[in-house]
Amino acid sequence: MTRTILVTGGCGFIGANFVRLIHAERPDWRIVNVDKLTYAGNPHNLDGIEEGHNYRFVHDDICHGEAMWRLFHEEKVDTVAHFAAESHVDRSITGPTAFIETNIVGTFSLLEAARALWQGDAWQGNPPCFLHVSTDEVYGSLGDSGYFTETTAYSPRSPYSASKASSDHLARAYFHTYGLPVRITNCSNNYGPYQFPEKLIPLTFNNALHGKPLPVYGDGKNIRDWLHVEDHCRAILLVIEQGKNGGSYNIGGHNEKENIEVVTTICDILDEKRGLLPGGRPRHELITFVKDRLGHDRRYAIDATKIAGELGWRPEMTFEKGIAATIDWYLANSAWVNAVVDGSYQKYYAEMYGQALA
Ligand code: NAD
Ligand code: DAU
Repeated sequence: MTRTILVTGGCGFIGANFVRLIHAERPDWRIVNVDKLTYAGNPHNLDGIEEGHNYRFVHDDICHGEAMWRLFHEEKVDTVAHFAAESHVDRSITGPTAFIETNIVGTFSLLEAARALWQGDAWQGNPPCFLHVSTDEVYGSLGDSGYFTETTAYSPRSPYSASKASSDHLARAYFHTYGLPVRITNCSNNYGPYQFPEKLIPLTFNNALHGKPLPVYGDGKNIRDWLHVEDHCRAILLVIEQGKNGGSYNIGGHNEKENIEVVTTICDILDEKRGLLPGGRPRHELITFVKDRLGHDRRYAIDATKIAGELGWRPEMTFEKGIAATIDWYLANSAWVNAVVDGSYQKYYAEMYGQALA
């Protein structure tokens, strides 16, 4: 094995897509996936990837400092792709505690484990790399114009984004203080296969398919910059293989859309693929404007010039192509969608792994 990569949160949406990419395209890397299997972690996301010399699953909590220390040493981890987090802004508003624990304390315990293994003369392995996956939300909210660059001042405005900003600061501090080989990526809204249907696109898909109301917050004119998850995962791989220690890289899809446009597009595609609703009703009639999210950021937009210039990365998916492919994937994988929506995916992993971790 040429590398041993610790992927945290590999049973979540982006982590699972990343494990699949590495498993397919870097067969000489050993992947160690540590995941607590919260509501957002679904082992079915990795169906078809078997335990073996190049893949190991570890059911654990990244906040368990000693366990992380042991895992780093036992596996001689030389690369980290740190995805594990509480990721949903709405949940951070109603219950911020888990965000503070996992996103801040969990990141800290991983940085400490990496420092213990990699620092000093005892480390004989590959040049190590700790890739911390973060978000554009740390930069706050934009007005009608302008873009987030790597030098935009941090201004997080939700408990989620504040917890991610804290973890970015910690990661950067470990580079400056200890010389830990940290790299940070800040990306925009991802979409694609295996996304938990609490997020706008899979939630809209599932409700629209079944003729249920489509909640749109506020006036529906908030803007997000949509990035297909495969484009994101390829960018992360590039930063691991060619990025600079201490560097941070913004990753965005060049696909700014108002939420209402995203929801309407999904409705139109489903009308075309599945026919209109009973009574000949188009699905956009299901759109229901609801109370706005507290502190709802108005606009995010990424300037990805740095990663394009330094590493040659560009997103391959237009939103039009990506959203059609995503809807095709959800339609073709209705068993996965139904198990997540009815909660039976949790029964499956309770049988496999026993009680939830404290
Ligand atoms: P997700 O919620 O789908 O998955 C999170 C995963 O982390 C799950 O498998 C969960 O079980 C695991 N996890 C949670 N707490 C854990 C803990 N304490 N110990 C071990 N595992 C734990 O998240 P996602 O959407 O795939 O996001 C992955 C990362 O990317 C996050 O760090 C998020 O902040 C960042 N990000 C996401 C997006 C997006 O649009 N989804 C955009 C920018 C950045
Ligand atoms: O920008 C990157 C971030 O994107 C990531 O860091 C987060 O982990 C990820 O969850 C995502 O955050 P958002 O809050 O932007 O994603 P969400 O899908 O929850 O919402 C997208 C937009 O749609 C947002 O403006 C809120 C709105 N929305 C969301 C839901 C769930 C609705 O209007 N209705 C809804 O039902």
